[in-house]
Amino acid sequence: ATYKIGYFVGSLSSHSINRVLAKALISVAPEELEFTEIPIKDLPLYSPEYDAEYPPAGRALKDAIAASDGILFVSPEYNRSIPGALKNAIDWGSRPWGTNSFARKPTGLIGTSPGSIGTAVMQSNMRSVLSFLDAPQLNAPEAYIKYDAAAYAEDGSVLNEGTAAMLRHFMEEYSAFVQRVLAANAPGHI
Ligand code: FNR
Repeated sequence: ATYKIGYFVGSLSSHSINRVLAKALISVAPEELEFTEIPIKDLPLYSPEYDAEYPPAGRALKDAIAASDGILFVSPEYNRSIPGALKNAIDWGSRPWGTNSFARKPTGLIGTSPGSIGTAVMQSNMRSVLSFLDAPQLNAPEAYIKYDAAAYAEDGSVLNEGTAAMLRHFMEEYSAFVQRVLAANAPGHI
């Protein structure tokens, strides 16, 4: 079987190191995972005024989450928290009230930063948000990655064997977690 993974890159930068990390993760991921990016850059700032009629970008986001077996967040840390563009996308997905797209979706969380905190504080904040949204989260392994440009090639291949092994392990555990949550969500389970 194959599993559809929708991934968010929490950066709008055209030279995002988190986009490099996303490519690297895809390059080492187990073959049963298929990846589609869920874009966030064209979303207006969410307002409840949109609930009566979601604009196409908001509708597309909710449809993309619904079409995904699992969600993966690859994001920078901004000011020790979640970048506004990513939080805005999550707010879009969570509404209109009663149609939270993240409920029961298996999620994974990873990010990289030039600093040695490696997005740990953003991830801690994200876990609170995902818990509130009733999204099951891969709890372990955690992955706080201090960015080393020499570890990655342009095409996303990983040049450093230690980094490759760590990212491969993360994706293997993520894939197993997605499959466990899907099994638990299947009709017949309580
Ligand atoms: C940052 N950066 C940053 N880094 C970090 O480790 N912790 C932080 O709290 C912040 N805060 C922060 C705020 C803002 C507004 C910016 C623009 C940057 C630095 C950040 O990690 C660095 O710019 C990364 O390159 C961002 O990831 P992308 O966009 O390259 O994927």
